[in-house]
Formats: sequence, structure tokens, C-alpha cells
Amino acid sequence: MFNRQKTMVIAHRGSKGTRPENTLPAFQTAIDDGADGIETDVHLSMDGHLIVIHDEKVDRTTDGSGYVKDLTLAQIKALDAGSWYSKRYRGTRVPTLAEVVQLLIDNHFTGIFNLELKTNKIHYDGIEQLVGDFFKRTPVPFRLVFSSFNKKSVLTMHALMPNAQYAKLFSTNGRQAERMVRQHEADGLHPDIRWVREHRFFLPHMQMRPWTVNSNRDMTYCFKRHFAGIITDYPGRAVALRQQIQG
Ligand code: G3P
Ligand code: MG
Repeated sequence: MFNRQKTMVIAHRGSKGTRPENTLPAFQTAIDDGADGIETDVHLSMDGHLIVIHDEKVDRTTDGSGYVKDLTLAQIKALDAGSWYSKRYRGTRVPTLAEVVQLLIDNHFTGIFNLELKTNKIHYDGIEQLVGDFFKRTPVPFRLVFSSFNKKSVLTMHALMPNAQYAKLFSTNGRQAERMVRQHEADGLHPDIRWVREHRFFLPHMQMRPWTVNSNRDMTYCFKRHFAGIITDYPGRAVALRQQIQG
């Protein structure tokens, strides 16, 4: 019934469970923990820079305030993105997409890089084009998977970079994402694990990578069914548990 692929462990916002999310220390830890993939989020600053951060506003994860779209790169770079998490990370900065990609290249990372376009609340005009342009001038040794809750962003990225992979993110509407895969508008589905479990929504022939798979119970559920991947805040623990279950 299930295919026997090894489930990829994808680090959510870097290694969100053990480091300040979406910072270079978080991505470095994910690599050191043996993650097969890295998931992160991208927004656009006022002056058109691709900024790696989860929220539309900087308030929760930095010592600043305001919308990313209303701040310049210089203003964002002046913020501390580590102290809110722990004093140990004081002075950690919000990275740009280019800095994250460079870290992965420097570490000879060859897994998957899942870039989530955060266009579901604010539609940053032209962000897809900027991301496409960036990867056209920056060849990378890893596989690119673009995802978004915003269907239009997935389709636009697909048109711009037909050789990458695409996934539709969803919390509740699994059938729309499934339709997109059937219509070759996306390669994969990135569902909320709660939806997967509640609706027993498992399509073994499709690339499903649920989020955020943090409990051992949820990890075991996905590993036993050989999901294509899981997106987790705890890549180190997930890699160890996968070893026990899948060998
Ligand atoms: O890409 C999976 C997951 O990151 C989606 O939700 O809010 O953590 O970006 P969020
Ligand atoms: Mg995300």
C-alpha cells in the first residue's frame, strides 16, 4: 500500500525548536543535525530586498517594530533577531535570501531548499520575479521547492522557473492542492499535519510533506507511511527517530 521512500526531514524555519527561527544559526544547526531539507519564508522590504523572516511584521522575532514592507534593508539589518529567543543569540541579524543561500552553498548542502513565498496576507508585487531572477543568477547545488498558501504565487513561480518544484501549502483545503498536482500545476502538497490526521489525508502516490510535525507520535505516523517528507522544528530528533523506524 505504501511506497518505501525514505521520508525527508525538512527543518522548519531552520531549526525553530532549538534556535531563533529563520536566522543563520538556525539554518546552520539544521545542517549540522543532518536535515535533508530546509524550509524558510521570504518577504520583501520597502527597498525591494528579499528578507527571510516568518511574520509580516518584525515585532515578534526582533527588537524592532513595523511591517517588513515599510522598512528598508538597512533598518531591518539594525535589528536584533536573537535576544527575544535567548541572550546567547544577542546580535543575530535577520538574514536576506542571498545570505541564507550562501550559507547552504558554503556548507555543501545538497538537500532540498523549500522557499515559502509569504504572499497570503500581503501580496508583495513582483516578489516571484525577484526570487526567479535571484536563482537565475545564483546557480545552487541543491533542489529548489517553492511553496505558498497563495495559489497564484505557486503558478507564477512555476511559469518563471519550470525546472524547479512547486508545492501548494494548505491548512484546510486539501482537495484544491490535490487538484493542482493532478493538473500538473504543482508537484507536491504541504498540508497541516492536523488536517492530515483528522481527515486521514494520505495520498501515497503524491509528494506530501506535512508541517509542523513535532511530536514523536506525528513523526512516527509519517515515517511509518513513508511520506515524502516532514517539515519539523526538531530535525535532529526526527533524523534519529527515522533511523529507528525506516533504518
Ligand atoms: O511551509 C510549511 C510551514 O512553514 C507553513 O506555515 O506559518 O510556519 O510558514 P508557517
Ligand atoms: Mg513557512
